[in-house]
Amino acid sequence: MTTKVWGTDDLGRSVELVTLQHNLFEATVSDLGAVLVSLKVPDKGNRQRDVVLGYDTAAQYFNNYETYFGATVGRNANRIENSQVTIDGKTYLLEANEGQNCLHSGPNGYHTRRWEVKEKSASAVTFALFSPRLDQGFPGNLELTVTYKLTDEGLEITYTGLSDADTVFNPTNHSYFNLNGQGSGTITHHRLQLNASSFTPIADEKSIPTGEIRSVKGTPMDFIQPKEIGEAINDPWEQLQLAKGYDHNFAIDGVRGHLNPVARVEGDESGIVMTVLSTLPGVQFYTANFIQDEKGKDGAIYHSREGFCLETQYFPNAMNTSAFESPLLEKDVLTTLKTAYLFKGESHGNV
Ligand code: GLA
Repeated sequence: MTTKVWGTDDLGRSVELVTLQHNLFEATVSDLGAVLVSLKVPDKGNRQRDVVLGYDTAAQYFNNYETYFGATVGRNANRIENSQVTIDGKTYLLEANEGQNCLHSGPNGYHTRRWEVKEKSASAVTFALFSPRLDQGFPGNLELTVTYKLTDEGLEITYTGLSDADTVFNPTNHSYFNLNGQGSGTITHHRLQLNASSFTPIADEKSIPTGEIRSVKGTPMDFIQPKEIGEAINDPWEQLQLAKGYDHNFAIDGVRGHLNPVARVEGDESGIVMTVLSTLPGVQFYTANFIQDEKGKDGAIYHSREGFCLETQYFPNAMNTSAFESPLLEKDVLTTLKTAYLFKGESHGNV
């Protein structure tokens, strides 16, 4: 593990880069936003490739309200309709940042916070954050941690939350992956398998789910058998047209509370295979539809569909949708959520 000063953010705070290593894996994270800055994994020739999109400077991550590259998103990932939630009979107003709606908890996201480094070792680091009562509008003093840990298989991200009043706890990691290496072009030829027999259709281009949980059968959303991400992405089908590609929540098949398989993705050129597992019930599959000429790391310029996100989460707008499992964190109950991004290329055995 190495630690170095990265620079200062817009508030003049000094921020660090922490690099974790284990076997041929290397992850760099920061106490600014508990963000994942790079993730290097071995390809079929055992050459390390950085498989996440990102930026070079702390200032870019601090102002990252559009792409959320690598961000730890909280308290609530994804959208809340009309920027309000009702908890224990009381309505709390959040800050709108996408029309009337609240995306990724509004303009004061956890990606702008300086987290405390609570524990660190060669292959793991735990960041802690205190989010006071009415932070972003939510009730409850919330203590949360995020742990990044490299293992023999890849990267595990574990979240814990503890609040002194009932609140919302729905964190995610917003990394954009390109398994051929960041900055290497389109991801449309990656093969994706999604362990989801249903998804939550959106009502219109504002992307709030209708509340229906619909079968993927016979639609472009069917990734039960692996297929190229781009196979149906341009189909003249309403749901894809509304979002300009994939930007939808899928309902993960599995047993609630278990670390269930979510997805398996193969880089077409690198031989890198990523499997995703999570204890969360949903995953937002997003194909970077809104990215245009975005200046990234190491001179890369990113375009639409040059990365994909698999944001594990409670379903969007679940606090206002009775059919969706609630992301309510009960007072004084310590909750642990976990998502793993594991890599098993040709060079290191089969999945
Ligand atoms: C999520 C949303 C997308 C987009 C990105 C951030 O994935 O679903 O619509 O807003 O965040 O760019």
